[in-house]
Amino acid sequence: MFLYVVIILSVLSLGHSVQKPGWDSWESSSEGLIININTNGAYSIGVNNVTWLNSGDTFFFANGKRNVAGHDLKLTQTTADGGVDKFGEWTRTNFHYTAGTSQIIAAIKTYNNDSTPFVIFSQQYVNGANNTGAGNVDYSTSSFPGFKIEKGTPALGYLSYGGMMFGDTEKKMGSWGYSTTKINYGIKGGPLALFDQTGNTIIISSANNFMSTSVWHESFLDIGGSVHWGTMGGVTEVPPGHVVETVLYYHNGGINKAMEGWGEYLRSRYNRDDTYVKSDLTINYLGYWTDNGAYYYYKTEDKNNYQQTITDVKKYNDKVKIPYRYIQYDSWWYYKGRANGVKTWVSRPDVFPQGSQYVFNQTGLPVSAHNRYWSSDTTYAKQNGGDYNFIVELLLAVPMDEKLWDHLFTEGRKWGLVSYEQDWLNDEFFGMKALTTDINNAKVWLTLMGKSARKNGITIQYCMSNSRHAMQSLELPTVTQARVSNDYSPGQDQWKIGISSIFAYAMGVAPFKDNFWSTTNQSGNPYGRSEPYNGLNAVVSTLSTGPVGPSDKIGLSNVSLIMRCCNDDGLILKPSKPATAIDSQIYQAAFGSGGPIGEVWTTYSNIGFIDARHFGIILAADIQNTFQLTPTLAGFGNITGYKIFSMDNPGKLTDFSDKSPVSITPACSKIEFCLYYVSPVIKTSPEVVILGELSKWVPVSPQRVKEINQSDDIIITITGKQNESVTFSFSVDGIIRSINCILGSSGTAQIHVEAMKCLPD
Ligand SMILES: *[C@@H]1O[C@H](CO)[C@@H](O)[C@H](O)[C@H]1NC(C)=O
Ligand SMILES: *[C@@H]1O[C@H](CO)[C@@H](O)[C@H](O)[C@H]1NC(C)=O
Ligand SMILES: *[C@@H]1O[C@H](CO)[C@@H](O)[C@H](O)[C@H]1NC(C)=O
Ligand SMILES: *[C@@H]1O[C@H](CO)[C@@H](O)[C@H](O)[C@H]1NC(C)=O
Ligand SMILES: *[C@@H]1O[C@H](CO)[C@@H](O)[C@H](O)[C@H]1NC(C)=O
Ligand SMILES: *[C@@H]1O[C@H](CO)[C@@H](O)[C@H](O)[C@H]1NC(C)=O
Ligand SMILES: *[C@@H]1O[C@H](CO)[C@@H](O)[C@H](O)[C@H]1NC(C)=O
Ligand SMILES: *[C@@H]1O[C@H](CO)[C@@H](O)[C@H](O)[C@H]1NC(C)=O
Ligand SMILES: *[C@@H]1O[C@H](CO)[C@@H](O)[C@H](O)[C@H]1NC(C)=O
Repeated sequence: MFLYVVIILSVLSLGHSVQKPGWDSWESSSEGLIININTNGAYSIGVNNVTWLNSGDTFFFANGKRNVAGHDLKLTQTTADGGVDKFGEWTRTNFHYTAGTSQIIAAIKTYNNDSTPFVIFSQQYVNGANNTGAGNVDYSTSSFPGFKIEKGTPALGYLSYGGMMFGDTEKKMGSWGYSTTKINYGIKGGPLALFDQTGNTIIISSANNFMSTSVWHESFLDIGGSVHWGTMGGVTEVPPGHVVETVLYYHNGGINKAMEGWGEYLRSRYNRDDTYVKSDLTINYLGYWTDNGAYYYYKTEDKNNYQQTITDVKKYNDKVKIPYRYIQYDSWWYYKGRANGVKTWVSRPDVFPQGSQYVFNQTGLPVSAHNRYWSSDTTYAKQNGGDYNFIVELLLAVPMDEKLWDHLFTEGRKWGLVSYEQDWLNDEFFGMKALTTDINNAKVWLTLMGKSARKNGITIQYCMSNSRHAMQSLELPTVTQARVSNDYSPGQDQWKIGISSIFAYAMGVAPFKDNFWSTTNQSGNPYGRSEPYNGLNAVVSTLSTGPVGPSDKIGLSNVSLIMRCCNDDGLILKPSKPATAIDSQIYQAAFGSGGPIGEVWTTYSNIGFIDARHFGIILAADIQNTFQLTPTLAGFGNITGYKIFSMDNPGKLTDFSDKSPVSITPACSKIEFCLYYVSPVIKTSPEVVILGELSKWVPVSPQRVKEINQSDDIIITITGKQNESVTFSFSVDGIIRSINCILGSSGTAQIHVEAMKCLPD
């Protein structure tokens, strides 16, 4: 490590290299990103020589007041140092501040490697700080970085994640400038993306201590003003040595690529292990759901209890051959106490008279089980005569004891528990003073749950998570899945998960759309509603890469519709990444021009490892204008040699290139949504294009297609259930040819395309 003194103004222009666009590459360079740092503590961020952001006031609450740079916050010296970490060689400028009795170092760290296009801002509390509360839990107790919200040239737009369900429910898009209205902040705040319409994008978010850091949009009447990052406003004391970090990430390839790169940085920093996501039964297989929106949500068959109803659900599904591989029990099954919180997490005799293990033995189905916030009279708390450490407040309580989770998970395994759904994360958090005023408690709560899940082989679904919980999952690999929109309500628009899925994908968490009905009218349902958009809900679930969870009344499933998701084993045939809204959709929402009005999402399947082949998927629904979609705008890059066809008309192949776009029109509605498939011309003479298994939403998926080999003939190795019948289609010189394959005893077969043969193994 070395030290040098910064001279008046240091301008760091970050590197030079070329960005590789397309498919699954998020590689970026920091070329174009410039940070100006002044020794007086000011800084600015520029993109391509244009200033995007100027620093606002640096401040720290300490000793009961707000200490602002230039006033009560004294800059004693500015130093620089450098070093090497996991991401390479770095250089750092340090502003040494004193706020009353507290010494705080605010620092800006940049990397010398042009493949690390980000800047880390940090606040190091050398000797801690007392009485730091900002007077409002939704403010921040500090600001570094902090930026003024000013109009730039070119015009910038923003996307601010906020609210619950992974920052979905209150997300906002708009133009950035003096008149920008409320950016999401405080408890409900989340990552902020700033962008122009040519691809330049900056993402700003917490980079550590996710549960106790916040963004604060400080303004007069919520207009203009500045935006600050620091410790959340309710925290009253910061311990010595505490470091708060904020990352500013740049990419010139648009919002999706920027979010992917930002997520890649964070996942790599926290060594997030994706093996739990990959192996989670409830992500890989079809499941039956009973949560809000489901037919059997706080409702059983007439004259029957839940025990009988669940058994009958299983019988019906076996009869019609829907291969559900697990079942979800919602909040109807356990004991509730004060404020309707969970009192005891075991099944009630009125629900399962013979117990949850009996039901498991009857159905043989593994279980995903719901839980909510803890009531203050929970029987597990030592305060109430139980065995475990809790913090108990007036209405709610929060467990601070890994042994509680060990107990719940080991007991749960006896009745089939494989996945634990922690719902009401936002209410548990803001409902407990101990979680919003202490800098560590909230992280401890979630970490103990995650650690015990890992030990006991249980995965976790987050529901009603704020962005802070979402980002905390970076450190908790057993958090494999999360709800990314409001609760299902038949006929409503909670299927619009294209923007929250960008965030979930970045965190390495599988996004979940929630349950859906596969038929329109389900008599006697508890909501008095109907669902006209069964297909849309089904396709969105499958393209999400998260759980697929129908929730029909017994007797009312559309089996062929449900089975478009999966193979005969219930294995979901999914794309390689979640379908996400294209950048142009977000530009349209932010700037009022430049893209589709409606939902246009894209994804793809990667087949093979070396020289991977890509099969693109485009979903368009609820479209209000006409938009020309090119491969580049779809996020696939400037590809050549690809064809596009529509699900409804697979016989009509057309070129798909930037010169030959596909027209997205208002004909793509919610009932008649448009689904396009993009496939490479695999051989030119004769011209061969793989259409795939056209009875599935994802006709070419890595779950079905193991290998595509080309020598004398094109040989496709497919896999599935033993004896499964699979019809695979091709276009050969413009003529559709289909091969029916009966998979062998090993559940695989090889399709020889030109010979039109299927050889089962
Ligand atoms: C930024 O300005 C400098 C100096 O005028 C110039 O050399 C450089 O090419 C510019 N960079 C970009 C990306 O426009
Ligand atoms: C720069 O970063 C890239 C991506 O993280 C890494 O592969 C490469 O080794 C780094 N180069 C140096 C010189 O540190
Ligand atoms: C915070 O308060 C504790 C207890 O009164 C005291 O020992 C410590 O010095 C204070 N810290 C600062 C930075 O003022
Ligand atoms: C469930 O099955 C297991 C294993 O066969 C058995 O030990 C247990 O007693 C059964 N439980 C109930 C409640 O039927
Ligand atoms: C659903 O019920 C409504 C009202 O009875 C009826 O008009 C409609 O045709 C039904 N839809 C389907 C798909 O059965
Ligand atoms: C079931 O879904 C298919 C689409 O997969 C549709 O054609 C059919 O009309 C649906 N049947 C019912 C009864 O809704
Ligand atoms: C896209 O690719 C084509 C063919 O390789 C090339 O002619 C064209 O210049 C490329 N367009 C862009 C914007 O890079
Ligand atoms: C496909 O090609 C790879 C690499 O050449 C080879 O290892 C593999 O055995 C081939 N598979 C089939 C089914 O021919
Ligand atoms: C597959 O077919 C064979 C031969 O008919 C039969 O013995 C076997 O049970 C079948 N397997 C499944 C999973 O149906």
